[in-house]
Amino acid sequence: MRIDIITIFPSMFSPVLNESIIKRAQEKGKVKIYIHNLRDYSVDKHKKVDDRPFGGGSGMVLTAQPIFKVVEKIKKKITSAKVILLCPQGEKFTQESARRLSSEKHLILICGHYEGVDERVRKALVDKEVSIGDYVLTGGELPAMVLVDALVRLIPGVLGDKNSLNFESFEGNILEYPHYTRPANFKGLCVPGILLSGDHKKIETWRKKEALKRTKQRRPDLLKFKIREEK
Ligand code: ADE
Repeated sequence: MRIDIITIFPSMFSPVLNESIIKRAQEKGKVKIYIHNLRDYSVDKHKKVDDRPFGGGSGMVLTAQPIFKVVEKIKKKITSAKVILLCPQGEKFTQESARRLSSEKHLILICGHYEGVDERVRKALVDKEVSIGDYVLTGGELPAMVLVDALVRLIPGVLGDKNSLNFESFEGNILEYPHYTRPANFKGLCVPGILLSGDHKKIETWRKKEALKRTKQRRPDLLKFKIREEK
């Protein structure tokens, strides 16, 4: 998989992309991530990438010119790339969308900013707009990192333990069961006895029951979704 990220704040990315699982995924050659500084593509003599909106109003708008230039340059190499704009108006990002996107060969992520981007970018370049939630951030950089993190860990071979993908939250629309590790008694707070019993069948049943209980309490909406899906 190859991911190209277009941003006006390229230095925001290295602390996140050069740590932990995403770093190892790149080292193992599972994903190639390229960061493009939008300002490098501006033809303006001051490297401006934004301007006031036509028709008036507050805030600035990212101009079409540098975004077209960088996307066209990337697409010259890989024509099949899917272009995603991170913005609050996009489709809500879910585990399901992460799974779908993780099977793409090449993604171009555009980090939106200011009041937005020139609408011609949406019309002529963007295949999909994605929001990470119903709140407004200062830019699309953090959302782009969220996408990369969620996608990269789904690429086969990125996570060491196959099971850690099979039983996790939201896969199958159910939250995770409670986890415990040593010591068995911490400040008088004891691990449920069943987990120490060595009876794997009983442990599995307990985990399923606890996961369901937690989902019913915290996210009943996920269970409704599951029932509807199964009909
Ligand atoms: N840019 C600003 N807020 C955003 C959000 N919630 N999701 C994606 N991009 C954004």
